[in-house]
Amino acid sequence: MDTYHAAADRLDTPAEWTFLDPVAERIAALVQRLPLGPARDVLHGVWLGHPLHPALAQAPIGCWTAASLLELTGGDERAVRRLTAAGLAALPPVLLAGWVDWSRLPPTHRRTGLVHAAGAVTAALLHACSLRARCHGHRARGRLLGLAGTGTVGLVAALGGHLAYHQAAGAAHAEAEPRLAPSDWQPLGATADIPLGAPVRRLLGDVPVVVVRTHDDGWTVLADRCTHMAASLSGGEVVAGCLECPLHHSRFRLSDGRPARGPATAAQPRFETRVLAGRMEARPYPEG
Ligand code: FES
Repeated sequence: MDTYHAAADRLDTPAEWTFLDPVAERIAALVQRLPLGPARDVLHGVWLGHPLHPALAQAPIGCWTAASLLELTGGDERAVRRLTAAGLAALPPVLLAGWVDWSRLPPTHRRTGLVHAAGAVTAALLHACSLRARCHGHRARGRLLGLAGTGTVGLVAALGGHLAYHQAAGAAHAEAEPRLAPSDWQPLGATADIPLGAPVRRLLGDVPVVVVRTHDDGWTVLADRCTHMAASLSGGEVVAGCLECPLHHSRFRLSDGRPARGPATAAQPRFETRVLAGRMEARPYPEG
């Protein structure tokens, strides 16, 4: 087996650990019940257009990596301590954003996420112990603990990257739909067959889309595959000018497809519409 596949297979292993499911379900229910209010969407990164957690994670990773580099190159002990402390101080919002995203993932992704989180907590404990040892004058022990903490962070980051990119936990799942649909006008059926305010699934070439007819006789055609984790939006319902996903209840504005509520962070792709002689047609918006 070549090196690439050996590494990828190892990173896939936690996704098979079904024994983690009971504890994962309990933690996910707890996180979903946290009274976070609008802060939940802030933590998801709805305002940013992509998940906030990986961006926040740069702070502790950067601090601890810099501390270890200083350590290995004979840098100033006070600077090492400050960087280690800064990494610990930056950690709470990273963990909170991660848990909030994690609680809305399918079971296989949650297993990987749980191992990723356990690794992050281990790394933080190693750095906290390192700082304590340094503050008590045990520099050699502090150095060992700090280097072990940064090594653990590297493994945690590798697993997080695998979860985000390989398992697509943070990817926009409908991004390619407009490019996969035919570029010219496609028939979606008679307007009389599309009821008011109820999403209807249709095909644009091979690409599933969801059609919504609004009260002012306006039409919205969105990609049917939810940008969060690919559920079919045609099984959802129209609420307050938005289409709500049936799986994790993200809401996408009918006016522009942008998420009004997470966990989705990316806009749902929209298609251009027209009605000719009582028949509905749609196509991707021309690029550029
Ligand atoms: S699949 Fe999660 S909100 Fe739609």
